Amino acid sequence: MGSGKTRKMAIRSKILSTGSYLPEKVLTNADLEKMVDTSDEWIVQRTGIKQRHIAAEGQYTSDLAIAAAKQALERSGLDGGDIDAVIVATATPDKTFPAVAVKVQAAIGASRGPAFDVEAACSGFIYALGIADNFIKAGQVKRIMLIGAEKISAAVDWTDRTTCVLFADGAGAVILEATEEEEGVISTHLHADGKYSEILNTTGGPSTTGTIGHIYMEGREGFKHAVTFLSEVVQETLEHNDIKPEELDWLIPHQANMRIIESTAKKLNMGMDRVVTTVDHHGNTSAASIPLALDEAVTDGRVKRGQLLLLEALGGGLTWGSALVRF
Ligand code: UT7
Repeated sequence: MGSGKTRKMAIRSKILSTGSYLPEKVLTNADLEKMVDTSDEWIVQRTGIKQRHIAAEGQYTSDLAIAAAKQALERSGLDGGDIDAVIVATATPDKTFPAVAVKVQAAIGASRGPAFDVEAACSGFIYALGIADNFIKAGQVKRIMLIGAEKISAAVDWTDRTTCVLFADGAGAVILEATEEEEGVISTHLHADGKYSEILNTTGGPSTTGTIGHIYMEGREGFKHAVTFLSEVVQETLEHNDIKPEELDWLIPHQANMRIIESTAKKLNMGMDRVVTTVDHHGNTSAASIPLALDEAVTDGRVKRGQLLLLEALGGGLTWGSALVRF
């Protein structure tokens, strides 16, 4: 650093506020017992899920996203006009195009800057966070409305017991703001390996069947890779930042399966009292699960300002990733 020059501070993306929305309709394991050959005992034992929220007919992903975004906006004290960009992580947009993000942009009264969706299945929020953080660090925008939103129930085959007991709908939002303080997103780590695309995908899409298709999953393979890749990516995050697991205040994982969450926590030597879990009452809401869990833990006072959070997810692609955040 040359003398006489002002030191340029690094820009970080601070989480200014959070918001969320869950559809009114609750589907319990008892309800599912009436629909397919399953049991509450099997679902709880294998996944940890007890109930989940399902969007109403005529209620779209953008409706969930807009509700979450409006709550985050209200809590931030900002106006829609203060938002420079809108990014929505989703695998279940209302339409092939336009993006859900432009509907959110219009609904919150923002009208400048980019608005687009990110599709990385259940890793979507982590991917979108990485993209948003780089936009902010590059100085291109100052404030981003970042949302994970899914009406994944629309892609569920309600006669397939291997998937219909898992997935659910919802949306979570965060507002990111450029700061020169020592807080916000510290690092993001994104990965994909397309040779595993057959493990978890949908049976259709716009350019193949012209329908959205249904979720297909090789559960055991997904489970195995989730345990391996998530443990690798959390290790990578710790090493990259030269921190020890003891320094983490909270693990906020994608909520696919309680056993996957417990396995990652165990590798980090973290007790479950330092892990935010919502899988029991939210199910697997894909790209919405991490911002939903974050919002719940911020709202009920568990996650406090200044705490160190590790977020991680794995999803179809396979895609996976993590983020270290000083809240
Ligand atoms: O969010 C994206 C990332 N998520 C994932 O990658 C998901 C990862 N995988 C999983 O979470 C678990 O593999 C599942 C929860 C999907 C399944 O649990 P599992 O312990 O791996 O069960 P399994 O697939 O090995 O199935 C065990 C048995 C099978 O019967 P047989 O072949 O042993 O006779 C299944 O047919 O359980 C049966 N089964 C069910 N039984 C009752 C599968 N689904 C059900 C069900 N109710 N809903």
